[in-house]
Amino acid sequence: MFQKLQEKWKVGGLQLALIILTFAIGGSGTGYVGKKIMNGLPLHQDWLWTLIYIMLVIIIWPVAVIIISIFFGQYKFFSGYVRKLGAKVGVVRQPEADSKQLAVGNRQSLTTNDSRLMTRLAIFASGAGSNAQKIIDHFRNSSLVKIALIVCNKPGAGVLQIAEKENIPSLIIDKERFFRGDGYLPFLKENKIDFIALAGFLWKIPGPILKAYPKRIINIHPALLPKFGGKGMYGQFVHAAVLSEKEKESGITIHYVDEHYDNGDIILQVKCPVLENDDAETLAHRIHALEHANYPVVIEELVRQLVK
Ligand code: GRF
Repeated sequence: MFQKLQEKWKVGGLQLALIILTFAIGGSGTGYVGKKIMNGLPLHQDWLWTLIYIMLVIIIWPVAVIIISIFFGQYKFFSGYVRKLGAKVGVVRQPEADSKQLAVGNRQSLTTNDSRLMTRLAIFASGAGSNAQKIIDHFRNSSLVKIALIVCNKPGAGVLQIAEKENIPSLIIDKERFFRGDGYLPFLKENKIDFIALAGFLWKIPGPILKAYPKRIINIHPALLPKFGGKGMYGQFVHAAVLSEKEKESGITIHYVDEHYDNGDIILQVKCPVLENDDAETLAHRIHALEHANYPVVIEELVRQLVK
């Protein structure tokens, strides 16, 4: 249940705990204050008493949770939550951005205002999202590519904050459904996703998605494949391995995705030197710069070839 809530609200474990605490304190505080007020009124406990009590609770509860949320650092979540609740019962207007935020399984179409001529790109990412940010920046004013969706398997990942800031719909996926269910393929199709770029996404891509997107799913790897690739070879592990093998150069590989880790046909490799005093962090920094400079350009080039 907690996992479901994390996915639904796109929050990490700690934030979920703070939210639940706010709900609990807000709820009992509301009951307490409501009763105090009712006890001060010259009324018998009949239907009128109950009606007034219910109305009081409806008024006090949002105020109580908002106030308490401030102490737990959850004001942003609760102001949105209360506003959405208000919109549901018709007392406030639905905020624009919120209607674009999708939870798992929500099948609402994302395409309402898009030009149908643009290639709709989904970025699959589950880390900080620096590559995702560069791709977004690159295509910000593009008439060729629209960043239509960010897919993530980690509630609380930095890339989700980027999605929110950039007002890009995001989807947190569930492992069971991704690998043993429909793989979210109907969801991707419904939302007219044309091309997928992995940028720090650590799960294999299930067969049905690979089949539906031939030569339309690419990945970026922070080393010169085929060396230093495969399961468990990500982030600092890659750079640490490169250093321990005393490689003179490293670099990036952009490749098509197939059913194996870091294995599909290579599209581009760019090299950089490994310096004598490098540690995993300095090397990662150099590699990230290469990724940022090359990945968006390669995506653009591939899309241009596809739409030619
Ligand atoms: C990048 O180094 C990429 O090569 C690898 O995952 C990392 C993602 O970094 N596949 P970021 O989240 O884009 O900063």
